[in-house]
Parts: sequence; C-alpha cells; structure tokens
Amino acid sequence: MELFDPSDIQLQSELAKSIANKLLEKTAKIGVIGLGYVGLPLALEFAKKGFMTWGIDISETKINMLSQGQNYIEDLDDEEVKHAIQSKKLIPRTNFSEVQNLDVIYICVPTPFTPTKDPDLSYILSAATDIARYLQKGQVIILKSTTFPGTTEQYLIPELEKSGFKAGKDFFVAFSPERVDPGNKQYNTHNTPIVVGGINQESSYLAALVNVQVIQKVYIVSNPRVAELEKLLENIFRSVNIALVNELALLCERMYDINVWEVLEAAGTKPFGYMKFLPGPGVGGHCIPIDPYYLSWLARSYDFETRFVTLAANVNESMPYYVVDKAIREIAKQGVKLSEAKILILGASFKKNVRDLRHSPSEYIIRILKKAGAVHIDYNDPHAPYYEVDNISMQSVPMSKEQLEQYHIVILVTDHDAYDYDFILQNIKCRLLDTRNGTKHVTQHREKIILLGYVQN
Ligand SMILES: NC(=O)c1ccc[n+]([C@@H]2O[C@H](COP(=O)([O-])OP(=O)(O)OC[C@H]3O[C@@H](n4cnc5c(N)ncnc54)[C@H](O)[C@@H]3O)[C@@H](O)[C@H]2O)c1
Repeated sequence: MELFDPSDIQLQSELAKSIANKLLEKTAKIGVIGLGYVGLPLALEFAKKGFMTWGIDISETKINMLSQGQNYIEDLDDEEVKHAIQSKKLIPRTNFSEVQNLDVIYICVPTPFTPTKDPDLSYILSAATDIARYLQKGQVIILKSTTFPGTTEQYLIPELEKSGFKAGKDFFVAFSPERVDPGNKQYNTHNTPIVVGGINQESSYLAALVNVQVIQKVYIVSNPRVAELEKLLENIFRSVNIALVNELALLCERMYDINVWEVLEAAGTKPFGYMKFLPGPGVGGHCIPIDPYYLSWLARSYDFETRFVTLAANVNESMPYYVVDKAIREIAKQGVKLSEAKILILGASFKKNVRDLRHSPSEYIIRILKKAGAVHIDYNDPHAPYYEVDNISMQSVPMSKEQLEQYHIVILVTDHDAYDYDFILQNIKCRLLDTRNGTKHVTQHREKIILLGYVQN
C-alpha cells in the first residue's frame, strides 16, 4: 500500500496521460451514477471544486428535486446544493446518454441482499449495462458501492466490456470504497482518507488522481480485491464489536447490579488498545446488517465458514427480539393484553440525528411486536415524519403531554439529541424502555426507566 502522491505519477499510454491532464486542468467531466447518501455528497464535492459534474439517477423524484435546487440529504448544505445546480456545475439527469461525454464515472448504487441474505448485485449490473452502451475510450470507471472481493473484476468488467472496449487498455477501472458516515460532524468526504485498487497501475493512478481532487489522502492498494475486502472489514469490525458489547449487556442483565454502561464508560478510560462501542436494540443502515453476509456468502464458495462474523451478525439480529420480550413482559406486569396495549417507539431511524430508515431496529421491533399480537403502535421521530413498515404507512406522533400519557410502554430505540427525557419521563404514565442509555443524565423519575444492560436488585 502507498500514500498517493500526484507528483510521483507514471503514466505510459496517451489515453491515460490525456485524462490526467484534463484532471489537472480541471476540465475533466465527472459523472456520478446513483445520487444517494454516497453519490450526492461526492458529486457536490466535485462541483464545488469547479468540475462540471453530471449526476445520474433512475429516481425521477430525486432528479426532479435536484433540478429545482432542492437537497434531500441531511448532511449537505441546502444552499450549496442549490448553488451547484443553479450555476450548472452539478447537472442532474435520469438519462445515461450523458455518459458518452464524461471522462470519469463513479458508480454509487445500492448493494443490498436478497431475502435469503445473498448479495444482490443487480443495481451494479444494471448501471454497468447502461454505462456500456455509451462507454468511450479513455474513461475512468470507479466503483464505490460496498461489495465482496471479485465484484469489480468478475462482474463489473465483463458487463462494461460488452461495449467492445478492453478494460485496462481502452478504459480504466478501479474499486474505491466509500467511507461517508452520515451525521458525523468531524469527518466528511474531504477529510476522510480513501483507498483505491485499480485493475492495473494506470487505473490505480488515474482513480487516485480523480479522488485526490476532492479527498485529502488517497492510499493505493495492489488490486480491487484488496480494496473490496478492506471495506467489508471496516464494517464487519463494527458488527463484531457491537455484538460483543450487546452480549455483555445481556450478561449484565443476568448478573444484576452491574450496569453495562458504567462498565463500558470505565473501559473507555484506557487510552490505548480499546475502542468504544455501545450496545443497543440492533444494528441498521445500509452497511452493518448487510456486509457480514457479503463476506460469508463469498467464503462459502471457498469451503470456508466465517463463524465469528456470522455469530456477531446473529447476536446483533437477536437484539430487537430481546427488546420486544422485555417490552411484552412490562406490558404483562400491568395486566394489559398485548392486543390492547398502546406502545410508543421513540426514534425510527437507524442511528441518532439522521433520517436514514433503512434496516432500522425500529422496523424489526414494530414487525416483531405486531407478529406477537400488538395492534396499537405509534412512533415519533423528529427526523422522519413518515415511516412505512411492511407496506403500512405511519406518521410521527407529536411529543405532547396528552400524547405521552396514553401509553403502556415507551421504547427508546434511537436516542436523537432532540429528545427531552425530563419532559418524556415527567409525562408518561408507564415505563420507558431505554435501549441506548439516552436517559443517563436524567435525575428525576428514574424509577420509570427500564435500562437495557442493567437490572437492579
Ligand atoms: N450510506 C452510507 O453511509 C454508506 C457508507 C459507505 C458505503 N455505502 C455503500 O454505498 C453504496 C450506495 O449507498 P447509498 O447509501 O448511497 O444508497 P442510496 O440508496 O442512498 O443511493 C443509491 C442511489 O442509486 C440510485 N440507483 C439505483 N440503481 C441505479 C441505476 N441503475 N442507475 C442509476 N441510479 C441508480 C437510487 O435511486 C439511489 O438514489 C452501497 O453499496 C452502500 O453499501 C454506503
């Protein structure tokens, strides 16, 4: 691995030299396919740096919003998006024919799993088929979607080569995973280092030269497979460590009188060899619940079972069930039938202070509660006014005194900063099942709190 230094760049072919010159002169035309949490911030960075940038998405809703200068990603500055659109530096389109005019094409489309948790590459393949129709000599294609090792070479390139051009010779290909952390105020696209693995040296250099226009530090690895696996490792690392503290939380509940949150806070005082992870009602988003399965699926084709990785995923997946069990026990203690109990979920998004609802623990908790017989389930989320679970639309309820008084249990799933726990505890007539230790600073009405990971004698 090497830290990329643009002054060290060695390019042989005229095609590669020509694209490098365009990048250095800032005349290269940049394209971003898929304008979601990853693609739109990236496209905006290029537009802000003065590059003509085309954003292509199959969602007409998103393209229409952007065309009117409207932003839909919480972390982005509305005015910056509006300015990029109005100044025509960022050009939103649904049509792939724009691809023929581009020099660089990033692919930032979803990589979900199938209902049986196998990788679903259909979005990457569909984007690749559309790109291949308009592919031109000399273009640099950079895949950013998280995926298993081998995707770039065994799936993306064959699709792109249907254009009749040869990868590595006529056009350049690299995998360069995304590290955006929605809601993170310290690290953004610009100051988060990134890794690049090209299919040959020219592809690596060119992809690094593209990235370095908007990202401070770029590291080059030997090939796309290394970059693909390192991305999975980043997310699986989180999955495994979250599973560890989730298990510890459950053990603390068994042991009585050891508060897992205090244990974790104490361990966090060690300045080396320890990293803070917190237990909770489960994992969510488009990365941590999915990526372990991308690796375990691939491993099976090598007669290898990723037992540790799968076990961690299983522990995390069991958490919503555990939370529901606790909630049902609390309702039963009140002598109320589950079918008549009124339940409030606080926080629908998968992590605090963001709007992203994908694979959120709240979705699983609502589904499991319904399967168990619960009927009256409300939710509140200051970031997500609407929520749909299993095709049933819900609307966030207000956090008023009258509203809070109605419930038999309130479950804190996502501890948004906007929540006023003193107000909530003062007004609920039931108990608050706190799965995030959001109430840690509350001093009044603590008897109303049921805390995940701590049972007092
Ligand atoms: N969200 C994150 O925090 C994050 C972080 C790191 C990596 N990733 C990875 O980045 C990839 C994208 O994730 P995201 O969160 O931005 O997803 P997203 O769902 O927010 O955005 C993807 C966009 O791609 C569009 N799209 C789908 N198919 C398309 C096609 N064929 N052509 C054009 N557009 C298409 C969708 O309409 C959508 O707007 C995934 O592989 C994800 O695992 C995401």
